[in-house]
Order: sequence, then structure tokens, then C-alpha cells
Amino acid sequence: MLDGRQQERFERQGEMLANRVKKRFKHLHKRFAREDIDVFRLYDGDIPEIRAAVDWYAGHLVVAEYVRRQSVPEWLPIMGAAVARGLAVPADKVHLKNRQTGKQDGKRYERLARTDQKIAVKERDFTFQVNLNDYVDTGLFSDHRNTRQMVRDMAAGRDFLNLYCYTGTFSCYAARGGARTTVSVDRSRTALDWARQNMGLNAIPEEGHPLVQSGTLAYLEDARAAGRTFDLAVVDPPSYSSDRAGNRDFDIARDHPRLLAAVLQVMRPGGTLIFSTNHQGFELRLEGFAFSQAAEITARTIPEDYRCKHKTIHRCWRLEI
Ligand SMILES: C[S@@+](CC[C@H](N)C(=O)[O-])C[C@H]1O[C@@H](n2cnc3c(N)ncnc32)[C@H](O)[C@@H]1O
Repeated sequence: MLDGRQQERFERQGEMLANRVKKRFKHLHKRFAREDIDVFRLYDGDIPEIRAAVDWYAGHLVVAEYVRRQSVPEWLPIMGAAVARGLAVPADKVHLKNRQTGKQDGKRYERLARTDQKIAVKERDFTFQVNLNDYVDTGLFSDHRNTRQMVRDMAAGRDFLNLYCYTGTFSCYAARGGARTTVSVDRSRTALDWARQNMGLNAIPEEGHPLVQSGTLAYLEDARAAGRTFDLAVVDPPSYSSDRAGNRDFDIARDHPRLLAAVLQVMRPGGTLIFSTNHQGFELRLEGFAFSQAAEITARTIPEDYRCKHKTIHRCWRLEI
């Protein structure tokens, strides 16, 4: 229970946050509406006392706490209510989340609730399903919307591999960009069912665009053995991943050279690999690799609404083979 003084302090902070978010919304929403972009970030923890992110999802607000916790803290509903008042969003469209950060990835994709409610949102000429209640992540990483566009622009006539494909959004862009084929790989059945829905919504046929349920390294080994090759790939792994027994078997900081080496086994000469991570403090190690070009493209892939002083939401590289 909050005492009177705490309540008052949080109410004051809520007003501060609401003012900040209102200004930001005014600045961003017309431009994004023109581009048919329904999902964008309104606030990203830049007031030190308010460690939360606020995202706009087509008239809904997702208010997520940064700090690692088992449950929503008492101050988060006060922030949610203040922002909702500021933007005239009804209470049933405010979604509060405790965001499990740090080395908690075993838990990251666990369910928070079971509403199974999805809504459709637009991103340019695509429609994607998002679930604003049930998981830490909603199904759409909108910090990569410009990276997706880049992939679309590079995809014509290429065979595209989407590793850790999650809900298949990169594959939708590649297919729409004229990729000859796409292969989307994820070990999660839930993610692949969602990806199938997204591909259906965007009229991408199943033929030529398979969804493969597999661990990444196992898929790469099978593809190599079968002589399957690609000339465009997106590799956007989680920072950590654990096997079925809960043992951490992948740590991006330690294991990315091994992962990239395995991806290279299925890439054709002249191919392009887009590699991304949101692991903070990541150092890319490319010793021993013979890429014809390797360039960090983060400055181009982070959209305006995700640019903030205190952190870099993701980092991204373009590696030419
Ligand atoms: C960071 S997300 C990938 C985001 C995706 N690239 C996008 O832009 O939407 C993590 C995904 O990786 C999948 N994943 C985690 N470990 C995996 C593994 N070892 N092999 C295959 N998929 C894995 C999870 O199921 C989840 O869907």
C-alpha cells in the first residue's frame, strides 16, 4: 500500500510523464499516420525517476516498467492512468507490464496472462497481429521497422533466411520485396503459428515461404548437410537462450562468432547478412572472418522514436560475403 506522501509523489511524476508523452505524441503521430505506422514509442525512460517505456499501438498504450520484478509495481498504474488521461485513451486500452530485463531470458517469453486477444496493427502496407497482454513482447519489435524496410529493398530475386524469426515480420517484408523464397526458422511453435497468421494477413503464400520449427544451430547444420544456400539473411537472436532443461546454451556476447560461422556455411558468395542484437554493451568480434565488407548500420536502422540519449535500443551490422 502506498502512503499519502508516496501517492502524491507518484501523482506528480505521473503528470510530468503525461506532459512529456503528450508533446511527443503531437510531434510524432501525424508523420507516422502519413506513413501508415500504427506502432511507435512515446517515452523511453528519460526521466530518471520514471524507469518505464510507453508505446502507442493503434490507440492502445503499453506502459512497461524496466526493472526486473515479479509483478507490476504500485506506481505503474498511476503512470498508466496519467498518460491515458493526457492522450484521452480509455482505461481498457491501457496495458501495464513489468519488463523482465537482464539475464532472465529463460523467463522472457513466458506468458504473463492468457487472454489470447490479438489486435491488428498497420506498419506501412503490412498488417501484423499484436498481443498486448499475454507476453513481455507484443509480437512486433517496432525499433526494427526501418531494418525491415531495408530488407525489403534488398530482397528482390534473393533467397532469404530469417533466423529467430519470431512472428515473421522480416519474412513478410522480404517476400513483399520480391524474394524468390523465404525460410523462417524459430524453435517456438507459438511464434511460428503467429508468423503464419501474419503471412496470411499479408497475402504471402505458404508455398515458397516455409516456416521451420527448429533450434537455429540444428537448422543450420541440416541446411548445410542438404546443400541449401541463401543470399540474404537476418540474424537477430535473443541475448541468451536456454535449452529444454533450462541450461543456458547460448550467450550472444560469447557465442556470436560460432553462430555467424554456422550461418556463413549456408550463404552464397555475394550474399548479405544483417546481424542485430539488443544486448547492451555488445562487442562484435569478427577476427578470422573474411567478409568483403562489414559495416555497422545502427545509425540508419534506429527510427526517430527510438533515438534516446541514455541507451541504444539495438545495434545492427551489414556483412557482405
Ligand atoms: C529477439 S526475438 C527475435 C526477433 C525477431 N527477429 C523479430 O524481428 O521479430 C527471439 C526469438 O528467438 C527465438 N529463439 C530463442 N532461442 C532460439 C534458438 N536457440 N533457436 C531458434 N529460435 C530461438 C524465440 O522463440 C523468439 O521467437
